Amino acid sequence: IGSEILYFDELDSTNARARQIGDAGGADGTLVIADRQTAGKGRMGRQWVSPPGVNLYASVLLRPPIPPWQAPQLTFLSAVAVARAIEEISGVRPRVKWPNDVLLDGKKVAGLLNEMNAETEGIRYVILGIGVNLNMGAHQFPADLRYPATSLRLHTGGPVSRLAFVQSLLRHLDALYQKCLSEGFSPVIAAWEGFFDLVGKPVEVDFQDRVVRGVVEGLDDIGALLLRLADGTLERVLAGDVRPLSS
Ligand code: BTN
Repeated sequence: IGSEILYFDELDSTNARARQIGDAGGADGTLVIADRQTAGKGRMGRQWVSPPGVNLYASVLLRPPIPPWQAPQLTFLSAVAVARAIEEISGVRPRVKWPNDVLLDGKKVAGLLNEMNAETEGIRYVILGIGVNLNMGAHQFPADLRYPATSLRLHTGGPVSRLAFVQSLLRHLDALYQKCLSEGFSPVIAAWEGFFDLVGKPVEVDFQDRVVRGVVEGLDDIGALLLRLADGTLERVLAGDVRPLSS
């Protein structure tokens, strides 16, 4: 990963550019980075605020030899790589929010957006979109964010080298990807659980049309969240917004 690196001062979205490169036959492992994005994309069609000079906006083009149903599990790979890079660069241990955010002090420091292009024969490519708030100042966050957000700099008090961070991130991404290709996703999911602190805790899962409360039991082998409900049944959550409940 990263043997080919394309850097841009400005892009609409690194994910959009990486998709074009994927469509044009670009190589497995190509990394697209931009200093700023004019239309950074978040999940659920939201915007990802992407000011210049401060953060990391990156997308990795992968052509993994896995069936399409396994592709969502690649999110755990980028989450673990980001968490490890944060730990390596700053010494602070981040937490992960299921399925794909990285948090410091309960505030979002990184967001991940994977996109897949698949046909019946299999995956053509997957884009791992990675946005990490490295040096963003408090005033640069929009006031109306859905979830409390922070940057590594706000959390640690000191500036973070974007170059050092990218180098660390690429090393971890590459190591995890190789492991995944040789051993499958279980070591990656196990590593992810090492950054997850909600096992045994009560949470609320918002499914848009309903909200369910339960106690987290962990993840299953494909990364679904296992929730023990009050009536004793086990709910297997594949998608939803998880909020910790106090107590
Ligand atoms: C989220 O909603 O949490 C996901 C945010 C993902 C943002 C990154 S920044 C680099 C890449 N390019 C995009 O347009 N989005 C992702």
